[in-house]
Parts: sequence; C-alpha cells; structure tokens
Amino acid sequence: MSIIKKTTCVLLTVTTLAFSHGDMAPQKVDTQGLPEVKDDVFKNPFSGNKLAIEVGATAFNQNCARCHGLEAKSGGIAPDLRLLTDGDDEYFLGMVRGGAVRNGNVYMPPFPDDIIPNSALWAIYSWLETLPEED
Ligand code: HEC
Repeated sequence: MSIIKKTTCVLLTVTTLAFSHGDMAPQKVDTQGLPEVKDDVFKNPFSGNKLAIEVGATAFNQNCARCHGLEAKSGGIAPDLRLLTDGDDEYFLGMVRGGAVRNGNVYMPPFPDDIIPNSALWAIYSWLETLPEED
C-alpha cells in the first residue's frame, strides 16, 4: 500500500471508530457574539454570562446530548454532567479535548477546536453550571 493509501485507511478507521456510537457527525458551534478564548485559559471565563449560557445549551444539544442526554440528564450511557462541581473546569477542558479512548475503544470522541472552539467549550460549561444537580 502506498503511504497515502495507508494514511487514508487509518484516518477512515479512526473516523469510523469515533462516530460508531451514533450516526450524527459533530456540528461546528456558532459562537457569534462571544469573545475568543485562548488555549491557556483553564478556568471558565463565562460563568453566569447569559449569551454564553444560550450558546452552551445549543452546543450541548448538537454535540453532547446524544450520549449525555437532553438537559444533561444522562440515561445511563454516559456520566451525568450535572454532577460536575465548581472547580472541575480544567478536568472538563481535558475531557472534551481528549475524549475517552481506552484500548482502542472510543467511549467518547475527542472534540477538536475547529468543532468546539474554546469559547463554545466554556459556553457549554457555563450552561451546565446553571443546571440543578437533580430534579
Ligand atoms: C459518543 C458518546 C459521547 C459524546 C457524543 C460525548 N460524550 Fe462525554 N462521555 C461519554 C462517555 C461514555 C463518558 C465516560 C468516559 C469514560 O468511561 O471514561 C464521557 C465522559 C465525559 C466527561 C467526564 C464526566 C465525569 O463525570 O467524569 C465529560 C466532562 C464529558 N464527557 C463531556 C462531554 C461534552 C461536553 C460533550 C459534547 C461536547 C460530550 N461529552 C460528548 C460519551 C460521550
């Protein structure tokens, strides 16, 4: 196999694995109106920001709800994100960027910057912060 064919093959396999849990491709988040956030920010800069909370709700529905549940009420497939606490900011950042991949199994795909820019990532966290921990 040529190197190009090999690369394509690997990429296809990775893509297939990443989306094998659902057929919805990740959707780029519209962050219009939110300022950009740099990569070296490890604490939510948008806590309580009304626009961020709205953007976050949409971004969550587009990219996370299919596993973590509508309103983040997990149906048991993935952890209940309402239980994240203050101070989980950096952990949240790491999970979204890195996903959860163990022994080649993709439990959660990583979400790169071109799908979920930093501002959208923190918008999602801001929205999660507004949710009650349980009903
Ligand atoms: C394909 C299903 C899937 C999608 C889509 C998904 N996740 Fe996950 N997520 C999981 C699973 C499964 C875990 C548990 C991973 C493990 O077993 O280590 C997880 C874990 C997490 C955790 C750690 C929770 C904890 O309590 O430790 C965070 C934070 C998280 N996801 C955020 C997100 C966000 C934000 C999105 C959307 C941008 C998202 N996830 C999209 C399946 C998914």
